[in-house]
Amino acid sequence: MIAPSSPHDAHPLLDVAIDAKRFGERMLLAGTRLSVARGEIVSLVGASGCGKSTLLRIVAGLDRDFAGTIMLDGAVQHGPSPQSGVIFQEPRLLPWLSVADNVSFPARARGACGARVDRLLDEVGLAGTGRLWPKHLSGGMAQRVALARGLFTQPRLLLLDEPFSAVDAITKMRLQDLLLSITRAHRTAALMVTHDLDEALYLSDRVLLMAAPDSQRAARIVREFAVDAPRPRTRDMTFNAALRADLFASLEALVPA
Ligand SMILES: Nc1ncnc2c1ncn2[C@@H]1O[C@H](COP(=O)(O)OP(=O)(O)O)[C@@H](O)[C@H]1O
Ligand SMILES: [Mg+2]
Repeated sequence: MIAPSSPHDAHPLLDVAIDAKRFGERMLLAGTRLSVARGEIVSLVGASGCGKSTLLRIVAGLDRDFAGTIMLDGAVQHGPSPQSGVIFQEPRLLPWLSVADNVSFPARARGACGARVDRLLDEVGLAGTGRLWPKHLSGGMAQRVALARGLFTQPRLLLLDEPFSAVDAITKMRLQDLLLSITRAHRTAALMVTHDLDEALYLSDRVLLMAAPDSQRAARIVREFAVDAPRPRTRDMTFNAALRADLFASLEALVPA
């Protein structure tokens, strides 16, 4: 975890307290607490259907039907905020807008902020593509555009829901390294849902393990793994073999065969 650097930073960047999230009669989340420090990268892992996307949508302000509070930089959130940028598994680009206009879409003005758009496209490795249409892009390129769009409002926090799970292995590695470089360059924190435990260990300062709801209890975060390995990290995971074994075994123990 990154230590607060000044008294102003005394509160965490993100402070989540979800007392209750129901779908109809069913209680999905209860007593969910988590925080993310400035610049910190936190991953959320757990079995499919355990509530990760629901939790992320609540944090993003996209689902307001819950009891609790989401605090971002000390202020209670009541909906989507320019302080957070959201990136989903699919790029979700608008096909009738150019690449550049997709990036500046959060400003809702075509042709807006050309210099900032160019800078962001350059940063995600897509310099000169602003006038292309989304249909001309590969999946990996489209996801780079989604990252640039997520950064457009200069957010302090990126919220990512399995952002790299739909691309091939090499594209995935490149996108992971891009995420590390942009979070460092923009001093942006990230909360990322992933089902790839090695991805979580490679990228994160902390990994949160979530257990699925059952007839007795709502979904909950059952363990937190601090990844105290220096960066840059190697992909062979030798930097933390014991932690990796523990994480894999802990997930396996949660999910009945
Ligand atoms: N809009 C919805 N209405 C009813 N149930 C939902 C809705 N969205 C998600 N759920 C249910 O909530 C549970 C958690 O879903 P989700 O948050 O998508 O899980 P995860 O992202 O961990 O796979 C699942 O059982 C899912 O069926
Ligand atoms: Mg999901």
